[in-house]
Amino acid sequence: MEQAKYIPALRFKWLTPLYDFLINITMPEKKIKQALIATANIPQGVKVLDFGCGTATLTMMVKEMYPGAKVTGIDVDREILDRAIEKVKEKKLDIFLLDYDGRQLPFQHNAFDRTVSCLVFHHLDTETKQKALAEIFRVLNKDGQLHIADFGRSTSWIQRTLFNIIRRLDGFKSTDANAKGLLPELISDAGFEHVVIKKRFKTMFGEVQIISAEKI
Ligand SMILES: C[S@@+](CC[C@H](N)C(=O)[O-])C[C@H]1O[C@@H](n2cnc3c(N)ncnc32)[C@H](O)[C@@H]1O
Repeated sequence: MEQAKYIPALRFKWLTPLYDFLINITMPEKKIKQALIATANIPQGVKVLDFGCGTATLTMMVKEMYPGAKVTGIDVDREILDRAIEKVKEKKLDIFLLDYDGRQLPFQHNAFDRTVSCLVFHHLDTETKQKALAEIFRVLNKDGQLHIADFGRSTSWIQRTLFNIIRRLDGFKSTDANAKGLLPELISDAGFEHVVIKKRFKTMFGEVQIISAEKI
């Protein structure tokens, strides 16, 4: 099937080589990713999917913190995955990385116990968000959990204003549901239960929230 259109990590492909550097100096990246992993509470031996893994920073952190977990990273962008593969090889980590067409996840039903995803959903327009959430729901086990870190609607007008920088960069369509605080509702609509915003981080580009949900 033809590859779905997508927004690259830093909007323009030519910026991809700078992704790790720029995200690290402009965002509390480690803090957010560590909190996301802690929230996901990953027991020994569980299967974890990093949806939209990009350069695999989060994917590798999961594996390093929980060596007993079976960790898979997936992304729609082959070029960024090539960088991820290099990083994973360098650290000699046993992680499965793959790309896909941006439509259907190439996994069986109930293949994972946890899905984590960091700063991906604001790249997806609302319809793509809904389809991605339905796919994540399908590939998660019963009692499986979804943990997302992404931009959400802040109570602070300063944070809401700062999010406009990202909205201008990544597009108003893809960031619309994030700006309106609709991501938890979309997660519920996909069939998840116990959808809760667990943490909020103020950043120079707006508020990043950690949202957790369960497939009952
Ligand atoms: C801002 S980057 C975040 C990368 C990584 N999760 C991180 O936290 O560093 C957004 C990522 O989402 C990926 N992406 C965009 N559309 C996607 C889709 N439909 N399915 C999976 N990944 C997608 C992009 O290729 C990019 O790697």
